[in-house]
Amino acid sequence: MIRKKGQFVRIDTPHTTLVLDPERGEAVYYGEKLGAACEFAAFAGAGRRIFTVFGRAGGTEHSVALYNADGGTTADFRLSRSRILAEKPALPDLPSSYGEGKTLELRYTDAPTKVALLLYFTAFEDSDVIAVSAQLCNGSKKPVRLRRLMSLQIDLPGAGYRVHTFEGGWARERHEEVRRLDSGVFVNQWTTGYSSHARNPFVVAEGDRGLFGFNLVYSGNHKEVFECDGILSTRVLIGMNDFLFDWELLPGESFAAPEAVMCYAPDEDALRSRMQAFVSEHIVRGKWKKRERPVLINNWEGTYFDFTEEKLLDLCAAAKEAGMELFVLDDGWFGKRDSDTCSLGDWQDNPEKTGGGLDSLAAKIREQGLAFGIWMEPEMISEDSDLYRAHPNYAMKIPGRVPERQRNQLMLNLADERVQNFIVRSVSDVLTRSGAAYLKWDFNRSMSDCFGKGVAAGEYFHRYMLGYYRVVAKLVKKFPNVLFEGCAGGGGRFDLGILCYFPQIWTSDDTDARMRVDIQRGTSYAYPQSTMGAHVSACPNHQTFDDNPLSARFHVACGGVLGYELDLTKLSAEERAQIKEQVSFYKENRKLLQFGEQHRISGSPAVEGFITVAKDASAAIAVVNILQVVPSQPDLFVRFAGLNPSAVYEVTQVGTDERFTAGGDLLMKGCLPLRSLWLEKRDKSCSGGIISRMYLIKKCKAR
Ligand code: GLA
Repeated sequence: MIRKKGQFVRIDTPHTTLVLDPERGEAVYYGEKLGAACEFAAFAGAGRRIFTVFGRAGGTEHSVALYNADGGTTADFRLSRSRILAEKPALPDLPSSYGEGKTLELRYTDAPTKVALLLYFTAFEDSDVIAVSAQLCNGSKKPVRLRRLMSLQIDLPGAGYRVHTFEGGWARERHEEVRRLDSGVFVNQWTTGYSSHARNPFVVAEGDRGLFGFNLVYSGNHKEVFECDGILSTRVLIGMNDFLFDWELLPGESFAAPEAVMCYAPDEDALRSRMQAFVSEHIVRGKWKKRERPVLINNWEGTYFDFTEEKLLDLCAAAKEAGMELFVLDDGWFGKRDSDTCSLGDWQDNPEKTGGGLDSLAAKIREQGLAFGIWMEPEMISEDSDLYRAHPNYAMKIPGRVPERQRNQLMLNLADERVQNFIVRSVSDVLTRSGAAYLKWDFNRSMSDCFGKGVAAGEYFHRYMLGYYRVVAKLVKKFPNVLFEGCAGGGGRFDLGILCYFPQIWTSDDTDARMRVDIQRGTSYAYPQSTMGAHVSACPNHQTFDDNPLSARFHVACGGVLGYELDLTKLSAEERAQIKEQVSFYKENRKLLQFGEQHRISGSPAVEGFITVAKDASAAIAVVNILQVVPSQPDLFVRFAGLNPSAVYEVTQVGTDERFTAGGDLLMKGCLPLRSLWLEKRDKSCSGGIISRMYLIKKCKAR
């Protein structure tokens, strides 16, 4: 709810309040929800800004930088209009959150030039996340060059915030890092054209009043700045990266920065729940939003490039026998692609590998009772491809220079409309020809040699993203029934921009259960489990060369959308039977696992896991991972979360006869001992693996 009260505007969400003083351009309060009284005056004027401009006082990091129409390098933005819009305005050409949401629009004008800064704050009735965005309008008669426009600025009171970031690299995405900022500037950013494996745009500032989470609805270069002046406040700036950014705005033109979101919560569990609920409700859209996702078999780690139609059909038959529902044909089905050195862009099937062709293979898969899905990497081009030979100018490269190759490939220049149209055509053709029900959209390198004819260098990165969004918007509209899964060399583009189009994303190329525990824990801080692709793969694992029991691999994968990615035909009869049981259990409990509220569970130091709880807390499934088991280990115990404290639950350890009943409060506050783990580990004789248990928790009766 958004209400004006004298000089103030009060924005309430179910559990939080933001109070703004638009005239001063200040945030007076942000945090836990306030009572009805609206006496804010004593707290105003503390100088905690919601925007600042380079060239004027107050810190070194600002939300706006421009070469103004008067030739100067600053602007004096003063409030010229403030109004509450009944509906959230659409953000031109960019992904953004949606759903009923009143929006506060604040317009600040620089009187000498008539250049205006617009800020938008949207509050949704059912969400504790506030969406914020910024636009710059050139109302002058001369061009303006915009050098930075951050989407969100908020100055939080005091210093010493613990800044949480989600970092790593390929196959080690989104590991949580925490740094305390007492003074100075800390920047979390990426500059090579994608949101990145290494630094996710999601960040958290944790202070003594609770946690403030921030994210950006964008998939390109991003920047999250924390500047602490050591005395009064800690500035947070969230937005598109201004690295090499230089955007010319002609008279009458506007520039819209991507949308940012922010959320306050008193503790980590609440912040996770609030962020996850927001993404499920106001970011993910379309037919698959709340629809149960199929259990898939993907052939990548099972065959890599080395397959024939016969091999694929055998794999499909084994998947069918195990109860799986969707067969995904990964890389290697097109052109001459037997390695990663060629054919990207040639989306014609290779009959030597697909038998009679893609359409006949897809038909045979469907005849076996599985839906058919396919992999593409539409933004890329191999130099050894017919596409490159016909249209070398479609590639992103600087004329007269040898471009840098990554994974032997170049990128397509999506800033060019002809290239955008080529991609829409080629993806549409593959989907139509194969009747695919699913598309894995990959992106396996970062940008270099950025150049587009007619595109100013300082505009390139963002123009690429606008081209990309135009393409995916068209395709998801054209194929509303297809389940799209984003991917970027694993989880290199796991962000809210992608999730506005694709309801799920391949979380990481690392399928090792132990590694996945950290990757999925970090990812689930900001993104719900229905967005995270999670597969059971072979042992020894192909990324870490470690073993983990099949049960642990399954349990961990139940923290996301379950799939299998291994050669089922090479498994023993016993393993295949175990997988069949896993799939059947998953399908039975899929709604809960994919769409329940997921909480992290805690316990003794070697214990971690998650619990997914039904909305009414009548049922839950918990996965408890014991990361290290040694002889004579002191007490191992676990505490559950998210249950109804006054309900009594029956707890069954899945796959065993172990069963007990206990009150919800005890399950959450007590320390449930985890016994005989060392023996279990010894019996399974797994090297370096985790031990994992799954509990099915069902409410018996009200107390
Ligand atoms: C990327 C993806 C993998 C697989 C390969 C195929 O690395 O993340 O899952 O699709 O490409 O080349």
